[in-house]
Amino acid sequence: MDDALREEARDVLRAARHLLGELADEADGFGPRPAGAGEAAPAPAPEARSAAEAPPAAASAAPLQTDLLGATPGFAEATTLEEVRSELGECTRCRLHEGRTRIVFGVGNPDADLMFVGEGPGEQEDLQGIPFVGRAGELLTRMIERGLGIARDDVYIANVVKCRPPGNRTPLADEVSACRPFLDGQIAAVRPRVIVALGKPAASLLLGRDIAITRVRGTWHDYRGTPVMPTFHPAFVLRQYTEQNRRLVWEDLKAALERSRT
Ligand code: URA
Repeated sequence: MDDALREEARDVLRAARHLLGELADEADGFGPRPAGAGEAAPAPAPEARSAAEAPPAAASAAPLQTDLLGATPGFAEATTLEEVRSELGECTRCRLHEGRTRIVFGVGNPDADLMFVGEGPGEQEDLQGIPFVGRAGELLTRMIERGLGIARDDVYIANVVKCRPPGNRTPLADEVSACRPFLDGQIAAVRPRVIVALGKPAASLLLGRDIAITRVRGTWHDYRGTPVMPTFHPAFVLRQYTEQNRRLVWEDLKAALERSRT
């Protein structure tokens, strides 16, 4: 098989696995699939999360089991982003460092009222060292700037894991666990008034349990005293680009912005 064919086969497999994951979520009893979900699934965007790559043998735990989380010591409440970044260093705490080009720490206003937490860097983020700069990032930026009417630089954006998972697969529990103190440090440093959790992995981490994003999106939660609004990941919205999904995310973001201003 030549390289192009192999890559195409991998894309099809990724899309199928992702679709299966979403179907499993929906079978979890939270109502009908979003409008348009019956359409043929396009190949995922490069930064779309996927469980396509088989995890290394030593890491076969289900992704994001939250019972493994929280074992690493945290940062003081008065920490700064510089301290957190410096402690992270050239991190080798989990296997994700092996495949990364750059650590993708976070970007934005260190005093932001609104903080966005995604899943982990995709290809473009890994190359540039900046979160949400690929296709999903462009959509997120449009939602923030054109939708909410605020500059992207005015919010803070980070991810659950700071290194790109191979093939954009979902980060595994031990990877999330290794990286969690740094996200906690970023939250402690920025002290946002509201956190928007983008997609299932971020929402599962912040809500402390394995959630179905379609069930919890649009509802308020709390992470150590900070209100959390879970919503769909922009990569999901790109794949299921329906008016309904765009409207739901828009409502969630508006509610988050309003609450961050009260
Ligand atoms: N880019 C990011 O930085 N995070 C994601 O979760 C997806 C794309």
